[in-house]
Amino acid sequence: MTSASAIRRGGLSSLLVFDRRLGSSYVLPFTLITLFSAILIFLLFVHMAINNLKSRTRTVAGHNLEATPWHPFNLDDRHLDASASRILRCSYLSCLRRSPPSKISQHSSPAPACPAFFRSIHRDLEPWRRSRISRSVLAEARKYAAMRVVILGGNRLYVDLYYSCVQSRAMFTVWGLLQLLRRYPGMVPDVDLFFDCMDRPAINRTEYDLAGTGKPPPPLFRYCTTKDHFDIPFPDWSFWGCYKIYAEGFAWSVSLKYIISCGSVSLIIDPQYEEFLSRGLIASENYLPINISNLCPSIMSAVDWGNNHPSMAEAIGIKGQQLMEDLSMDRVYDYMFHLIMEYSKLLDFKPAPPPSALEVCMNTVLCLADEKQRELLEKSSSSPSSTTACTLPTLEGYND
Ligand SMILES: *[C@@H]1O[C@H](CO)[C@@H](O)[C@H](O)[C@H]1NC(C)=O
Ligand SMILES: *[C@@H]1O[C@H](CO)[C@@H](O)[C@H](O)[C@H]1NC(C)=O
Repeated sequence: MTSASAIRRGGLSSLLVFDRRLGSSYVLPFTLITLFSAILIFLLFVHMAINNLKSRTRTVAGHNLEATPWHPFNLDDRHLDASASRILRCSYLSCLRRSPPSKISQHSSPAPACPAFFRSIHRDLEPWRRSRISRSVLAEARKYAAMRVVILGGNRLYVDLYYSCVQSRAMFTVWGLLQLLRRYPGMVPDVDLFFDCMDRPAINRTEYDLAGTGKPPPPLFRYCTTKDHFDIPFPDWSFWGCYKIYAEGFAWSVSLKYIISCGSVSLIIDPQYEEFLSRGLIASENYLPINISNLCPSIMSAVDWGNNHPSMAEAIGIKGQQLMEDLSMDRVYDYMFHLIMEYSKLLDFKPAPPPSALEVCMNTVLCLADEKQRELLEKSSSSPSSTTACTLPTLEGYND
């Protein structure tokens, strides 16, 4: 208004004389509008970028992940808090302020011997003992895996997530690995491994036979295996979650360890699915086997036998309980430690996290957990061990 009347009063010459004043009075609102629009566009852009990042950020709680195609399940059960700021804060900011590395403890007491069945680590890794594991052999495991875990420097853990795991298995499994790093600070070797969190073993011994394919099978970790599979068994999530969350009987049931620890005689139906601890089970010594093709008569004869031999039945029950006592959490960490250590020796390349992997630390998991999960996670956190890991039995003398 002012500048417009100034032009009218002064004509062209004034316009030229006062062009600086005129210019600034016209440009100021124009500049403000431009600046405002630019800020608006910038904010819109940031908003879109944040939403885009949020919708691409996969988390151990299961955000932005589909169920495993080989075992579909209902994703609606997960009750995921979808707030963008929480997902981004937990995923990208929670490892920035890491707690100082725990002091490597003095290891005053001598290491105990591991339970004898830890030898099965050698058997489980046997397919790669001669060939070792190349990048390309490892990459084959990708199509069976829900996630990839890379550990570096004994204190950094990176996770690349491909599929959601049923319930909170991924969260508790990653938590277990983080606790292992805490328990043995700086001692866990660099490693790169693929993991499936569903029950059914996938690496069929017939199909991945070295003689047939000319190369070793893809190494894939999961909670159980069978004699017909090359899947590598790893302690399951419930050691950290410790609540009985999954016993649908689809393949293998997590409840075995709870049943055996009760001290009564366990009647175990053809333990076809082997989790890492079931290798310690010896028929008629710490449990009574039940023949699945002959179920009812088999159970009845076992019960009859128990009733007629009460002291022997009791001894079997006690031995089962001892097996579970041997298998304290210390031994569970030791099993993980030795399995990862022996596996890492087989890698013929230097592990590095893929570009799509994100670092996960204890804060990340706690940040993503709901209230109940956080309580369980905190209860199951470890502290540095005062001893080195138990001594792994050698391959020699291993005749299973
Ligand atoms: C493994 O594959 C072979 C050949 O395809 C098949 O006959 C066998 O049933 C499979 N075994 C298991 C345990 O799935
Ligand atoms: C289980 O029962 C079936 C049918 O009676 C029999 O053929 C088989 O040999 C039994 N298996 C064992 C391990 O006893």
